[in-house]
Amino acid sequence: MKLSLAPIQGITLAHYRNIYSEIFGGVDSYYTPFIATSSLRKIVPSIYKDIIPQNNNNNIDIIPQLLSNNGSDFNFFASTIADMGYKEINWNIGCPSHTVTKKKKGSGILAYPDMVNKFLDEVCTNKQYDLTVKLRLGLNSLDEGINIIELLNNYPLKSVIIHARTGIQKYEGTVNLESFEILNSLSKHEVTYNGDIFTNEDFIKIKNRFPMVNSFMIGRGALRDPFLPSTIKGIITPTSEKIAKIKEFHDFIFNHYKKVLYGDKHLCDKMKEFWIYTSVHIDPSGKFLKKLKKCNTTSVYLDIIDKMFDTSNLWIE
Ligand SMILES: Cc1cc2nc3c(=O)[nH]c(=O)nc-3n(C[C@H](O)[C@H](O)[C@H](O)COP(=O)(O)O)c2cc1C
Repeated sequence: MKLSLAPIQGITLAHYRNIYSEIFGGVDSYYTPFIATSSLRKIVPSIYKDIIPQNNNNNIDIIPQLLSNNGSDFNFFASTIADMGYKEINWNIGCPSHTVTKKKKGSGILAYPDMVNKFLDEVCTNKQYDLTVKLRLGLNSLDEGINIIELLNNYPLKSVIIHARTGIQKYEGTVNLESFEILNSLSKHEVTYNGDIFTNEDFIKIKNRFPMVNSFMIGRGALRDPFLPSTIKGIITPTSEKIAKIKEFHDFIFNHYKKVLYGDKHLCDKMKEFWIYTSVHIDPSGKFLKKLKKCNTTSVYLDIIDKMFDTSNLWIE
């Protein structure tokens, strides 16, 4: 059984993946947040900084992800990435953001099977890496997802990852397991399940419902509870050790952003993003998160964090 960390733009970047794997483990593969391709045929280092091997621990499995609807652009970016030594690249056709979908990218392309066909014809000729695809149930409806899965069956993909919502659902409502089941049964490729695994009980429920699925991708659940992947793998961290590990995790992320961001406000804003997820088990009443949301200086920030670690010395399951 394989577990992967879902890409979360702005959060699961190289420093986050590196320290996550060191402190918490339990994750077999880390997908990077997407890099959007463009018609640029020059290697601009800032575009690739999250995936260059120097920024990534070389003992963890990293799968770079590209967002694109243009096969020739994709080929340029993918061959640059393959030249860095990556053996697998993921194509994002699941992003639900309106700014992306209106350009027929991300889940927007799911409504245009001819574009997907053209793209894959161009990309699957002579590619030097394994290609995986991350998609949703469809943009508007399952019918679109069915068309796309049947079309993907014609190409040499390593696997497909299905987030069990439609694009227009964004992150609202619930995952649709009946629709996931239909796509899973139609796919000739290995399928990874993705969506709303927040606890070990959620995982067990999904695993029992789909015993034939052996690969699971976890996003927000693994950010909220970084012990979740290892717990699923049967590794139990005593509650008494959890707070110390979260503090070590926080301090690393904080010091990283202190080095790379300019000014207190940027630093505080970035750390608020971190705590939106990570506070769930340490500050279940939301008392400290509420205070954090209002803070704009590092000294106030650190004061709130110190109090939170002092008073919330319990990890609430
Ligand atoms: C803020 C945010 C950013 C995301 N960025 C990406 C991304 O760059 N690439 C991608 O494929 N999915 C992205 N996702 C989707 C997640 O990878 C994942 O599919 C989604 O959160 C559902 O899984 P979960 O319920 O386990 O969180 C993002 C989700 C969120 C909430």
